[in-house]
Amino acid sequence: MSETIESILHEDRVFPPSPEFTAQANIKPEDYEALKRKAEADHVGFWADLAREKITWAKPFTQVLDDSNAPFFKWFTDGELNVSYNCLDRHLDAKGDKTAIIFESDDGKVTRYTYKELTDEVSRFANALKNLGVKEGDRVVIYMPMIPQAVIAMQACARIGAIHSVVFGGFSAVALRDRIDDAGAKIVITADGGRRGGKTVPLKAAVNEALEEHCGCVEKVIVYERTGEEVEMVAGRDIWWHEAERGMPDYCEPVNVNAEHPLFLLYTSGSTGKPKGVQHSSGGYLLNAIVTNEWVFDLKDDDVFWCTADVGWITGHTYVAYGPLALGKTIVMFEGVPTYPHAGRFWEMCQNHGVTVFYTAPTAIRALMRFGDEIPSEYDLSKLRLLGTVGEPINPEAWMWYYTVIGKERCPIVDTWWQTETGAHMIAPLPGVTPLKPGSCTFPLPGIDAAVVDEEGNEIPHGNGGYLVIRKPWPSMLRTVWGDDERYVNTYWAQFNNRYYVAGDSARRDEDGYFWIMGRVDDVLNVSGHRLGTMEIESALVAHERVAEAAVVGRPDPVKGEAIVAFVVPRGDVPEGAEREALIKELREWVSKEIGPIAKPDDIRFGSNLPKTRSGKIMRRLLRAIARGEEITQDTSTLENPQILEQFMQK
Ligand code: WT7
Repeated sequence: MSETIESILHEDRVFPPSPEFTAQANIKPEDYEALKRKAEADHVGFWADLAREKITWAKPFTQVLDDSNAPFFKWFTDGELNVSYNCLDRHLDAKGDKTAIIFESDDGKVTRYTYKELTDEVSRFANALKNLGVKEGDRVVIYMPMIPQAVIAMQACARIGAIHSVVFGGFSAVALRDRIDDAGAKIVITADGGRRGGKTVPLKAAVNEALEEHCGCVEKVIVYERTGEEVEMVAGRDIWWHEAERGMPDYCEPVNVNAEHPLFLLYTSGSTGKPKGVQHSSGGYLLNAIVTNEWVFDLKDDDVFWCTADVGWITGHTYVAYGPLALGKTIVMFEGVPTYPHAGRFWEMCQNHGVTVFYTAPTAIRALMRFGDEIPSEYDLSKLRLLGTVGEPINPEAWMWYYTVIGKERCPIVDTWWQTETGAHMIAPLPGVTPLKPGSCTFPLPGIDAAVVDEEGNEIPHGNGGYLVIRKPWPSMLRTVWGDDERYVNTYWAQFNNRYYVAGDSARRDEDGYFWIMGRVDDVLNVSGHRLGTMEIESALVAHERVAEAAVVGRPDPVKGEAIVAFVVPRGDVPEGAEREALIKELREWVSKEIGPIAKPDDIRFGSNLPKTRSGKIMRRLLRAIARGEEITQDTSTLENPQILEQFMQK
């Protein structure tokens, strides 16, 4: 069991919301009770009423949930809308001059966009896309730095009904190519480069490399000039963003699409095979994006909301690019990293921009906590009123630091459990209602039927661990895996005969019914809040000429949550001394090139074979114990080759 889970299991402190917070909250205890009652009495009617209230429909829906082809559920099926209209145009009369985005670049330059300005930018770029031949349903890959143009590109796609797929700028050319090919993208939108921590991220070079060998689906590459550094432009294929926009009118009529029309694909890792393109809808996705920003982040018109996630992840979709804008709120976007040029950067930005609601990952909190309490105390954090976390379980120590040092015991912390596939928060506190327990994501939101079940799918008594499932469909659920319906069913539904959505996490509920997430049940690692399949890293390793076989496991890490440990069987002799060091370095670089720097193994061990049973199955539990430096107490009698363990134990 990891140290985090260990300390979480011994947690019994409770922090109720202050009366002041509750008094001003969007959802007060009585509202919560009413929402819950209604959702329980009439699940479908509950979501239908919210959808009518929160979304501006071009054509109202008459059918709410279509479950005739379960688990391929459809929501609001005959309704039509435009997501970009809902995020932009509908605010213009009342809030055209309100700030939509406060952007701070890596080097500290601040740029603001009002709703009117953002709408014009989106429209102009949408016209540029149309002009380049992008049509409704075409896929557009966005490989951008964390700058407003990333959001503009996403919104522009939504405006014309194109399906975007954002690829995190930290993924390598190889990973980018796989995603472009799988999505069959017609256009790639990128920048010459990005800036992070004072360094350039060579995005355009990676796009060029990705497109060297591929299926040929890409017709155009649009390049935003960000760094001004020289890049290679391919004649006939590549066009600068500002040139694509030249002469384009600043109004583009939003295209109304069916509620089920895919808004975007987002690739994420599973336990087997290549990353899957999680497909999200327009209407259902937008609805949960809106209500969770309202309920969980308690957003008000004078809030300044900073979600630190990159738009390359689902968090950056729902809590940067779509949800807060659909509510007409002000967001902060940041291009850089938390520790550059100094470890107070986050807190300095909270102070300078008057951030009121702040949302980040436990790994960032743990990393910043290491620099001590003095740094945050140098900044005025008095505007903060609500804090959030996402991505992995938060250990109570980090929770308490966040609560006392950053929130000054004034700000509730919303620990939000959800996934790329769920589209929006599923299990999370309502900050004006739920008494908090450090390390628990508390209770499912109204309308979300989450449960912990055993192998047969029966709900299990509180106190015991089991599979986390969601038993009723919800509007922002993924619709399928792009191009692979079978994988959708097998991955998420088959385990319980298509009755429940299986999250892939284990969880337990305590005596008060609180949910505690224990971790993945599959071979998926959570490294600094990023999801990585062990198999993906193994495939990358064995693609190297010096690697015959590889097995990858996770090891608890005080900052990253999990660290990556790779057990490698080299071709030829097991290297020693300087040769060994050189190969470790080379393999780390190799994985970085195949997937991205986030997937670099922290620890590489060599042996002449992997520990296997007589039937040839790799004994991962032994590798996990070795990775942690634990003594092997397990039975090794089924092992074909016990002497291998000794080799791998040597660092
Ligand atoms: C996996 C989903 C959802 C956006 C970020 C990650 C883990 C997520 C929590 C939390 C404990 C969490 C789960 C989940 N996870 N939030 N609050 N407490 N674990 O999205 O890459 O799709 O990863 O992250 O294991 O399955 P993702």
